Amino acid sequence: MDPLLDFTDQVALITGAASGFGKLIAEGLAQRGAKVVLGDVNEDVVESLAEKLRADGGQAVAQRCDVALEEDCQRLVATAVERFGRLDIAVNNAGISHDFTPFEEIQQSVWTRQWEVNVNGVQFGMKHQITQMKKQGGGNILNLSSMAGIGGAPGIAAYGAAKHAVVGLTKSAAAELGPVNIRVNAACPFFTLTPMVAESSIVVQKGVPAAESVLSRGCVMKRLGQPDEVANTMILLLSPANTYMTGQCIAISGGALSL
Ligand SMILES: NC(=O)c1ccc[n+]([C@@H]2O[C@H](COP(=O)([O-])OP(=O)(O)OC[C@H]3O[C@@H](n4cnc5c(N)ncnc54)[C@H](O)[C@@H]3O)[C@@H](O)[C@H]2O)c1
Repeated sequence: MDPLLDFTDQVALITGAASGFGKLIAEGLAQRGAKVVLGDVNEDVVESLAEKLRADGGQAVAQRCDVALEEDCQRLVATAVERFGRLDIAVNNAGISHDFTPFEEIQQSVWTRQWEVNVNGVQFGMKHQITQMKKQGGGNILNLSSMAGIGGAPGIAAYGAAKHAVVGLTKSAAAELGPVNIRVNAACPFFTLTPMVAESSIVVQKGVPAAESVLSRGCVMKRLGQPDEVANTMILLLSPANTYMTGQCIAISGGALSL
């Protein structure tokens, strides 16, 4: 295997692994030799994925993990250590969106839930991942932010605020943890046709072509992302050869511009 993409024996934890980017990253890492630990609220689906990866010759374990609950995030790290002895890579991918809504009409419950899942979920995960990575002398964390985390996001302000917080968590942790060989980066995709977007009300109501032309207005490539091209870029960022990059929030965006 090309050493740039050889994850043999690396232990990788992925949250939100039942769908979309998380599922593709889990498959991509397992196919390249990683031992994967998969968490999701959708326990049956994530367990089936782990079974499939094992049937294909990989090493995979799955468990229910609601990232909004600190004890679930802690248990996922504990499972990695119990089953595979360490934790090299953590992808804090689980996240939720919300419907396009004028700023002043976003319900308080939506703001709160965005914070619980998209911010606390990343912070709880990082807290326990970092504790383990410090014990073993290093590690590699990739958080899922968004283009909405590095620029204005009209109509999805609660999501955008939460994803900006993920950038803050990423940069602060990277600055603090570089000396102990823990690298922390974030991926910032533009709208991509994972179930999160494909099943969103704008796409369901308008259909893909019409929704794409509205959503991709600010994107120089004039199209939405495809799930594999974005997930593959994240796998490239996780490459075992990528050892000197930290504190970066990388746009994967077809050139979409941000305010
Ligand atoms: N698709 C996009 O356009 C896009 C763009 C930028 C960033 N992102 C981010 O990428 C990440 C993955 O999104 P996706 O597009 O693959 O979405 P998706 O909806 O296809 O997958 C999200 C997964 O997270 C899981 N999940 C939701 N809440 C959870 C919780 N509390 N605990 C554990 N798991 C939970 C879901 O069950 C699902 O399996 C998210 O953080 C999202 O915000 C997506």
